[in-house]
Amino acid sequence: MSAAGENLRIDGDRLWESLMEMARIGPGVAGGNNRQTLTDADKQGRELFARWCEEAGLTMGVDKMGTMFMTRPGTDPEALPVYIGSHLDTQPTGGKFDGVLGVLSGLEVVRTLNDLDIRTRHPIVVTNWTNEEGARFAPAMLASGVFAGAIPLEHAYGRTDLEGKSFGDELERIGWKGAEEVGARKMHAYFEYHIEQGPILEAENVEIGVVTHCQGLWWLEFTLTGKEAHTGSTPMNMRVNAGLAMARIMEMVQEVAMAAQPGAVGGVGQVQFAPNSRNVLPGTVVFTVDIRSPDQAKLDGMRAAIEARAAQICAALGVGCAIEPVGHFDPVTFDPTLVERVRAAAEKLGHSHMNLISGAGHDACWAAKVAPATMIMCPCVDGLSHNEAEDISKEWASAGADVLFHAVVETAGIVD
Ligand code: GLV
Ligand code: MN
Ligand code: MN
Repeated sequence: MSAAGENLRIDGDRLWESLMEMARIGPGVAGGNNRQTLTDADKQGRELFARWCEEAGLTMGVDKMGTMFMTRPGTDPEALPVYIGSHLDTQPTGGKFDGVLGVLSGLEVVRTLNDLDIRTRHPIVVTNWTNEEGARFAPAMLASGVFAGAIPLEHAYGRTDLEGKSFGDELERIGWKGAEEVGARKMHAYFEYHIEQGPILEAENVEIGVVTHCQGLWWLEFTLTGKEAHTGSTPMNMRVNAGLAMARIMEMVQEVAMAAQPGAVGGVGQVQFAPNSRNVLPGTVVFTVDIRSPDQAKLDGMRAAIEARAAQICAALGVGCAIEPVGHFDPVTFDPTLVERVRAAAEKLGHSHMNLISGAGHDACWAAKVAPATMIMCPCVDGLSHNEAEDISKEWASAGADVLFHAVVETAGIVD
């Protein structure tokens, strides 16, 4: 067994062309993508990825959550595979790189191994996890959560989008419900390469993020119940205003997150007013609070504070308040051996690097529950993500994919 020479590189142009070709599927309205999970665009993206994998000689497995596992065999039939994964689904107004970079870099690793005629002892499996984004069906990282045994399969199938369509029905509709039991696969190691989605690497002028941890999160779905009433004729002291309660809770979430600084965030990204008419006080408001911290005690403390203060706010206004947790994972510490392998690969290739804590959630967070796992990050322009203007350079993309290649090959073992 030998190590890959430091002169070995992936094909940065080919990776970039693949990224741009995938971005043509499910175009957004402002230059990015809307390829939400289990839509026709997702189906098309899957088909393109499957075709590329087939051309690269990979064999496909699909599990009951629709996650795609594309295998390049190893030489040792006993050796568990090394997984490279991320997601092809996007936010409704998503960028071209969030998730896609990780999946297509996995494919690029395999294409490079094929070009160089390198065999590895462990198989390599490139993975496209279903519904990482959680934009259409909460929570995020749904398929990897089921894979890790943290979310029951039936619960996942029953999740509904804003139109009331269920995850299970939509998965069947696009024809990607596989036969494989979810979570049956065992992993030797799991790697995920992703854009940072934050501003640190670019500000520090560093090429590679060596990801040591990921912050934990709670998604708390609030349903506030007031009284629908005329906005003009209902006196101020006779209103039961669920919208006002929502506004006060939103402000309170900001205060709670600010009081937990540093290392904590909190905000609201989705609000639904019903009936949502200009001259009707809302009878119902449904919205989701997203709070995150790498510190478990801080995270749980924020949740407790938000729930207690929300109850007070609603009681004062006579508004009903129900809170359902719809997404959660604890802060994650990535595998120290794999973390050091990523650092060593960056070092070997002469790329600047620094430790990072991931602010966003990733499928690697659930994979870390069932296997040694870690992540690699590259910078993104202005730290912008979950925005159609999300951007990276070809050089950044290639540098991280080279680090991925070397860390994966080191883990999978080259056979002479
Ligand atoms: C996933 O994209 C998340 O961090 O919410
Ligand atoms: Mn992502
Ligand atoms: Mn995302």
